[in-house]
Amino acid sequence: MKAAINAVSDVVQNRPRPLREFDQIYMKSGDMVLQSELVARWADGKRLAFIGDGDAISICVAYLHKRGIIDYGPSEIVVFDFDQRICSAVTRFADKEQLDILRSHNYNCLDKFPGPTDFDCFYTNPPWGASNDGESVNVFVQRGMEATGYAGEGMIVVADDAELEWPQRVLANIQRFALSSNFFVQKMMSMLHLYHLDDAPDLKSCNLVIKGLPGNKPPSESAPIADPQRLANFYGKGLAPRVKYVIEKKRLDYGKAQEGEYSFELLEPIK
Ligand SMILES: C[S@@+](CC[C@H](N)C(=O)[O-])C[C@H]1O[C@@H](n2cnc3c(N)ncnc32)[C@H](O)[C@@H]1O
Repeated sequence: MKAAINAVSDVVQNRPRPLREFDQIYMKSGDMVLQSELVARWADGKRLAFIGDGDAISICVAYLHKRGIIDYGPSEIVVFDFDQRICSAVTRFADKEQLDILRSHNYNCLDKFPGPTDFDCFYTNPPWGASNDGESVNVFVQRGMEATGYAGEGMIVVADDAELEWPQRVLANIQRFALSSNFFVQKMMSMLHLYHLDDAPDLKSCNLVIKGLPGNKPPSESAPIADPQRLANFYGKGLAPRVKYVIEKKRLDYGKAQEGEYSFELLEPIK
């Protein structure tokens, strides 16, 4: 367990700072350890696509396996994310630790899915859709389904709280969308994870696992999503998408404090 926590700590150190306006809110480290083991077991020997991954579960899964801390894991992992900083964090870590099975692709999920569409499974922890009844979740889920040619499995990480109304509406709408796409709910693992979320520190998320029905086929060709009703409140109330990609400003000193963050009050000169 100590080796696993320290490995996840390496990954956390490599993560870019979250951009709250795009609902980047990172999972707490203890929950990342358990979630990574669970994802590695679920996707053992399979090809796995991440539709967005600020949390960096993809890196943890590949790293824990490579280091021999767990002896199972996916055969290939590709992260599709619109934030270049997150894609670079994946590439930087994969290069440094020689994680040959891990790579990233800069992609906005409003655009057509770039392919390939023969992944065995997908994972997404999307914007949770509190202000759009989960429509934003369904956009990410749709891209995940496309990644598997509508024939694979998906793990969807969304808010789960029995006291609040909106997470229940969101969960119902995701399941409705899954059923309408000929997927069914295999299992739901309730209230597992906590986040660095100042205004709701106790809000938990669940894993909702879905699977395409045998013989399921893609309904139509992948298309961009441009329906204003689907996009209104995508990242929260009044926050429709306006950014295609988050562009990274390159830094050499990744993981270290930047000069703008501090100044020095000097010691008196020694006489
Ligand atoms: C929205 S956050 C959800 C919270 C999650 N715990 C996290 O921080 O990763 C999930 C990921 O989706 C990515 N994302 C947001 N909007 C996107 C878009 N339009 N296309 C692709 N990825 C997007 C973010 O960069 C982030 O990595």
